[in-house]
Amino acid sequence: MKSIVVANWKMNPASFKEAKILFEATKKAMGKSPSVSLIVAPPAIYLRALSANYKGKKISFAVQNAHFESNGARTGEISIAQARDAGADYILIGHSERRAAGETNDDTRQKVSAALALNTIPILCIGEAERASSGEHFNIVAEQLLTGIKDVAPAKISKVIIAYEPVWAIGGEITMSPRDMHTMAIFIRKTIIGVYGDVGHKVKILYGAAVGEKNAAVMMKEGDVRGFIVGHVSTNAERFTALLKIIQNEK
Ligand code: PGA
Repeated sequence: MKSIVVANWKMNPASFKEAKILFEATKKAMGKSPSVSLIVAPPAIYLRALSANYKGKKISFAVQNAHFESNGARTGEISIAQARDAGADYILIGHSERRAAGETNDDTRQKVSAALALNTIPILCIGEAERASSGEHFNIVAEQLLTGIKDVAPAKISKVIIAYEPVWAIGGEITMSPRDMHTMAIFIRKTIIGVYGDVGHKVKILYGAAVGEKNAAVMMKEGDVRGFIVGHVSTNAERFTALLKIIQNEK
């Protein structure tokens, strides 16, 4: 089974010229990573040109967000259908930076449904903002998860990818411990199985937040995850190349 890596470029790089250079370096690194399936999530404005010029099969594209409605008076928004038309096969939904800007669990529910209806794979991002010893984070994660997938039919649940991203670790260099990820992966899986039964075993779970060269291998070994969402390291060609190599070697 291939590892899944999502390169979440966020609002980077600053120009399309730099985006092309970064994509070329990423493509080159992927040439040596046959066991990795890469999904690049560039700023939407770069998506069509990058995807139109890419003829390979190893890299797919995602948008970092899109609206659940197909068209209409939504100034500044893009629809999932438009993202699909521009080359996206995946969509990140409910990233913590979108949630911080006002996206609700109910928005994620509508986006997950709309994405599946358009044959676009939803990558539902969930994760608590902070962690306290009370264990409250499990309730937060359960609510984000259960609301996000609420309208997904049992026949489609295996298509949904869940990305657990502890918000308190995003953007830094230190991940949560693989043991804690392992516990969270079991919790997420049990929660899905509680609703959908055995088919829940098929749902892919990713880890995101501060994934880098130092922690990827141990997280793969011990974290019980199928792959990663990589933010800042994915926009540094040298570091991302090193990271892909580590993930490849861990297979
Ligand atoms: P990071 O971001 O790798 O920079 O922590 C991950 C994410 O926000 O998806």
